[in-house]
Amino acid sequence: MTLLETLKKRRSNYDLTAKSALPVEELELLLAQALELSPTGFNSQSSRIILALGAKHDFFWDIVLAGIKKEIGETPAFEKSKAKISSLRRSAGTILFFEDESITDDLKARFPLYARNFSIWAEQSQGMVQFAVWLALSEAHMGASLQHYSELVATKLTSAWNINPTWRLVAQMPFGIPNSQPPHKDIVPGKQRLQIVK
Ligand SMILES: Cc1cc2nc3c(=O)[nH]c(=O)nc-3n(C[C@H](O)[C@H](O)[C@H](O)COP(=O)(O)O)c2cc1C
Repeated sequence: MTLLETLKKRRSNYDLTAKSALPVEELELLLAQALELSPTGFNSQSSRIILALGAKHDFFWDIVLAGIKKEIGETPAFEKSKAKISSLRRSAGTILFFEDESITDDLKARFPLYARNFSIWAEQSQGMVQFAVWLALSEAHMGASLQHYSELVATKLTSAWNINPTWRLVAQMPFGIPNSQPPHKDIVPGKQRLQIVK
């Protein structure tokens, strides 16, 4: 499969099964390579990943739901969230993306001239590793979506799993073999968003 074919194949897929197309050893390799091969500002390599499977995957979505309940109470909106969270939980596992803030802080201290850029570059580098993982999963015939429940769960998660306190949770990616194809999405033609200057 060419890179452009993989780019075309990648979509947000919210209708997944609890099955993985890859055994855990291959998932581990895929994630390790996405981390190693994705570029980072100043080669900081500050992105981190936790792969949550089985009971840990369930625990993650349990605390997301508890966090939403705490925020909005048992309202009709909560019932909708409950359905959404159960659909996200219906997946083979969740990839949790983190930033190791100690690395960005150290760069800020060592290179004051660029201090205000390091956090921006760290976020951009995060996007790159998240995209690399998403593409690699697509290539392996798995669907995934990108979620942002970090603020609701970060403190609880860090203490429950004894995560390094300098790791900041950025995003979550539930993945699995798709149950159905994602619906059509509107695309603004690339040529309308692109200029060539000579
Ligand atoms: C930076 C970024 C943040 C996103 N955050 C979320 C999110 O929190 N929840 C969600 O369901 N999708 C999220 N998405 C997915 C987008 O909604 C989705 O990529 C977009 O609608 C295009 O659809 P596609 O992924 O199927 O091509 C995010 C995507 C990006 C790139």
